[in-house]
This record gives sequence, C-alpha cells and structure tokens, in this order.
Amino acid sequence: MNNPGPSRPGFSFAPEIPGPRFGVLGSGKGSNFRALAEAWKEGTLGATPAIVLSDIETAGILPLGREFGIPTHFLPPGPFRTKMTPEAEEELVRHLREARVDFVVLAGFMRVIKAPLLEAFPGRILNIHPSLLPAFRGLEAWRQALEAGVPEAGCTVHLVDAGVDTGKILGQSRVPVLSGDTAESLHARIQVAEHELYPRIVREFAKQIQG
Ligand code: GAR
Repeated sequence: MNNPGPSRPGFSFAPEIPGPRFGVLGSGKGSNFRALAEAWKEGTLGATPAIVLSDIETAGILPLGREFGIPTHFLPPGPFRTKMTPEAEEELVRHLREARVDFVVLAGFMRVIKAPLLEAFPGRILNIHPSLLPAFRGLEAWRQALEAGVPEAGCTVHLVDAGVDTGKILGQSRVPVLSGDTAESLHARIQVAEHELYPRIVREFAKQIQG
C-alpha cells in the first residue's frame, strides 16, 4: 500500500529509507527521544526521525537531536502557558510538512495540541504519558500516583485527540511503587519503562501505517 500520510500522498517508501518518517516534539531533556533515536541508529525502529521541534529554546532535546544528526528547531509558542497560539501551531505544521513526516511523536511535549496539528495529522500523533491512563492525567502524573498511595504506577503510549491524555491507548508498562519512594525515584523508575515501551510501540505503529 502506498503511504497515506497527509504530507505526501502517493509516496512509496524508498528502499533506502527505513520505514516512515516522523517528527518529534519535546519540551524537556529528551530521554524518550534518545531511546527512539538509539533504536533508529541500531536499525530496529522501523521508522526514521526527520525533525526535532521544541517550544523551549533551552530544552536538552534540541542539542540531542543535533547530536544524532537530525535537523532541530525552536519554535516560539506565544504567550499561553499550556498551549501554542494557532499561528505558532501552524508554523509547527509547516516544519513537519517540509520535513515530509508521516506521523508525529510527542516526547515530553508539555503543551496541549490543538486543531491545526490535530487536523494536519489525524490519528497520527503519539504521546507518552507517565501513568497508567486513564488514571492521573495531566501534569506530574508520577507525583499524583505517589500522593494517591497506589501500589502500582507506569506509563502509557496513546494516540492524541482533542482531550488531555484521553486518546486511544496503544500500550502500557507497569512499575511498582516502592516504600520510601520519592517523586523523583518513582519518575526515574517510570522513565526506564518508558524507554523500553516507546520504541516498541512506535515500531508497531510504523508497521501498521505502512500496511
Ligand atoms: C516523560 O516522563 C514523559 O512521560 C512526560 O515527560 C517526561 C519527559 O521526559 N510527559 C508528560 O508528562 C506529558 N503529559 P524526557 O524529556 O526525558 O523524554
């Protein structure tokens, strides 16, 4: 089947390109992106990161992208704390289209995605969230889990829809909450699980959209 990606209708994967292309959006240090990029370098991801974009000029994910030889850009998000302006999101879409990506991976991107991006890549935006959704949506989910006193935490990869952490679940990993855990120690344990889960689910997703 030809790739039905919105950015390049009729495109067939060239044999030298390992799978579909994806764009990465991140606001933080980029450890999830690193896990994906390492799998790509090892030839086990089945997809190629084509661009890394951030709403935070000093985010570690930008130099990390360059370290892997991937084009990176800082995109000023505008004045709101929790979302980008429609204009800023249009600019984001422009970069993703120019990079000819077939899907989008959120890797610690801390703004809510709105119509311009959702409509440009319907059903093609993945996110990783540090809880066992539907429990503990929103910010610092590991801290929410610790404060709720649950015995088990984890992480979820899901499709992004117009809600906050509400889209279709593609995969989850569970980790125990240990006595004596701090927010930091629990988040660190969840991140180890994230770095195994995200490449695995991206590989499955890439395979699925190739038909
Ligand atoms: C990850 O734990 C990810 O699950 C979380 O931010 C961290 C980013 O770390 N994302 C969210 O909370 C999104 N709601 P990283 O920059 O090292 O990948």
